[in-house]
Amino acid sequence: MKIFLKYTFIAFGTIAVLILLWASTLKLYNLHSVSVEAELFNTNSIEYHYINHLLLGYLHIIPGILFLVLGAYQFIPFFRDKYLKLHRFTGKVFILLAAIIFITAIVLAVFVPFGDMLETIVTIIFGTYLLYGTYKAYIYAKAKKINLHQKWVTRVYFIAIAVSTIRGIIALFMNFADYTLKEAFGISFFLAFILHLIGVEIWIRFLAKK
Ligand code: HEM
Repeated sequence: MKIFLKYTFIAFGTIAVLILLWASTLKLYNLHSVSVEAELFNTNSIEYHYINHLLLGYLHIIPGILFLVLGAYQFIPFFRDKYLKLHRFTGKVFILLAAIIFITAIVLAVFVPFGDMLETIVTIIFGTYLLYGTYKAYIYAKAKKINLHQKWVTRVYFIAIAVSTIRGIIALFMNFADYTLKEAFGISFFLAFILHLIGVEIWIRFLAKK
């Protein structure tokens, strides 16, 4: 049972990362398109919503994509053990990217939210928690407390990729509960972050232990 849950967690995480990579790359392309051909987009679309905040969008999404790739690399034990110096360097870059993403996420949610108040509140709470987690991961790496460092990095990465699950939950609300995209945003943020928080704590406390 434990082995099954372990591989389910890893498979779920991998799929979430791949979907988010694909969706974010597409969004980058669309943001570029809206900046040159705005008339092609519906004025209610997310792309149009960003038309006056493109720089902020890029500052969130580009580090987000790098964070996903670098994080996935950092978690593979083979590379971590074989290229320790590289792991330390990319680890610092990862921490910096994480800080940029979480700060820009809070700025987006406070100043240009697409959804409702719940989106803003959930992002402030989880964005702040993730910033705290990033700080803890860095401090424990410096102090060579590797076990604690790993736990915090795992928390930060797995909770951050809840952004991928949000997309699936939004689709469910829109298809089965007749929510509009705007209405589905806040509740989907809330459910996805809670789900990932619970999932990663189960992983850390029960599944990751040998
Ligand atoms: C893990 C890396 C991340 C990537 C690749 C990423 C990607 C994106 C993308 C592509 C958008 C544009 C809008 C959309 O397509 O939904 C976006 C917006 C946003 N992201 Fe992220 N994101 C990441 C992490 C986070 C985290 C951890 C949070 C919250 C703590 C967050 C909060 C937001 C918010 C609030 C917006 C603005 C949504 C709106 O328009 O109201 N993101 N992100």
